[in-house]
Amino acid sequence: RGPDAYSPTGQATSTPPDEVAQGGEFLTTAQGARLYDTDHSLKAGPRGPVLLQDHHLREKITHFDHERIPERVVHARGAAAHGVFQGYGTAARISKAAFLGKDVETPVFVRFSTVLGSRGSADTVRDTRGFATKFYTGEGVFDLVGNNMPVFFIQDAIKFPDIIHAGKPHPDREIPQAQSAHDTFWDFVTLHTEATHHTLWNMSDRGIPRSYRMMEGFGVHTFRLVNAEGATTLVKWHWKPKLGVHSMAWEEAQITAGVDPDFHRRDLADAIEAGAFPQWELGVQTFPDTEDQLFEGIDLLDPTKIVPEELAPVQPVGLLTLNANPSNYFAETEQVAFHLGHLVPGIDVTDDPLLQGRLFSYLDTQISRLGGPNFNQLPINRPHAAVNDMLRDGMHQTAVHRGVAPYRPNSLDGGCPFLAGEDNGAYVEVPERVPAAPKVRDAAVSFDDHYSQPRLFWLSMTPPEREHIVAAYTFELNKCWETAIKERALKVLANIDGELCAQVAAGLGLPVPAPTVTLADPAPSPALSQLGGTWPLD
Ligand code: HEM
Repeated sequence: RGPDAYSPTGQATSTPPDEVAQGGEFLTTAQGARLYDTDHSLKAGPRGPVLLQDHHLREKITHFDHERIPERVVHARGAAAHGVFQGYGTAARISKAAFLGKDVETPVFVRFSTVLGSRGSADTVRDTRGFATKFYTGEGVFDLVGNNMPVFFIQDAIKFPDIIHAGKPHPDREIPQAQSAHDTFWDFVTLHTEATHHTLWNMSDRGIPRSYRMMEGFGVHTFRLVNAEGATTLVKWHWKPKLGVHSMAWEEAQITAGVDPDFHRRDLADAIEAGAFPQWELGVQTFPDTEDQLFEGIDLLDPTKIVPEELAPVQPVGLLTLNANPSNYFAETEQVAFHLGHLVPGIDVTDDPLLQGRLFSYLDTQISRLGGPNFNQLPINRPHAAVNDMLRDGMHQTAVHRGVAPYRPNSLDGGCPFLAGEDNGAYVEVPERVPAAPKVRDAAVSFDDHYSQPRLFWLSMTPPEREHIVAAYTFELNKCWETAIKERALKVLANIDGELCAQVAAGLGLPVPAPTVTLADPAPSPALSQLGGTWPLD
């Protein structure tokens, strides 16, 4: 700010100084009046009483009283960084998204998080981790809001409040913080057995990453990419860390939670400050966009299922580098707002019922968390593309809109015609056919198999990894009070693998139940060349 913004002669500048942030030589009130003392309230004599007329005292304390905003209802604890995404150009055949183009550089902001704990909880707990990326592309913001595990607990968003209520601390004692080791969590995941796969990933070493820099990320759902000719391809997004995937041993994680509860956020910030910029390759598994949306018998709309990489290899499409720490945690990490509906031309959604519910949920919660509908004006959320949205007014509006006619077409303000059609770079939804089917509250039969893929995961583990999984189930289930819940958990494990079940049962001192489903061992993967479906990018 120029010194004349504070002219002692009383001459004001014609417009307010640009910066909303702090500047100027002197301490002032929020109204810009200079202060001579901020350490003593105004009193009737040095021993009081304090006078109600002290506006500076009331302004300072009132503002402080309102400094906190509600933490996120899930993923409250997080750490973030700025970076750049560079497209390889390899996705050009399947998506027209400009930021995927060869050598196109796009600024990004990435927020990593735990799911269950509150904002002040420890980093190294056993939990899923969020991996949310905001791409500030020239075509508008694209958000990829994923996790470090490729599957989710539930198949339909209507159960999300239920799984989160079950995972959060018990309502009576508000314990445990940030952990799934308690009755309601295990009650839920053993009654809703579609949660078996994600729970097994949580009990594996994936549940306790060594570092945010050493985690994979997954979009989980299947998305639909569209190329310049309008042809569509189904994809699953993957982030592959250049440092490889590493986990902590459970004892390490427990000690770290005590010694340095900020371990992961410190690790990320320190690495970036030291110039050791973490990198991930973004890749896609590609599937033909068939009517049934099945691939090798796997329902691509079921978010509790993966497609093994042996069947559909991950093909790299770009490189993410995190190279700068936030300068203000609140302004950036806390106020950033991700949303799956933030899409750019070339990327569309599918009918996965979990994805569809998420499309509603994030905007709704952000209106409450960020105090109204104008949080897109916050610096961290602003698109790096021109915005002309006809949205007006509302809580915390900071723009001074010009013109009189925020509707189109109008005959008063002129300009800004509708950009009809894809030729003008507009976002046009894929005209996917909606099946002629009766309304039902139901799920597809192909969502029914809850055990084949957990078994596949268990069989893919090495002996030490299996030991860790057994130890994790034993530790967690031993925290439950209700024997009936432990017994039900053993029944679920019996359906995954007899040996897994027997070892956990021994740890719990309970009998081994018989399985209720019989699974054939997975068939060896067909050679890639025999698969009609895979869709190489080149
Ligand atoms: C927040 C991922 C399912 C509701 C988040 C965040 C991530 C994430 C990474 C943190 C965003 C941030 O850093 O600010 C996922 C994944 C899911 C999933 C991968 C399943 C595949 C759901 C579902 C719902 C939901 C089904 C609701 C129906 C929320 C809400 C927030 C959130 C309300 C807080 C958002 C905010 O306050 O800004 N999720 N989530 N999520 N998620 Fe999800």
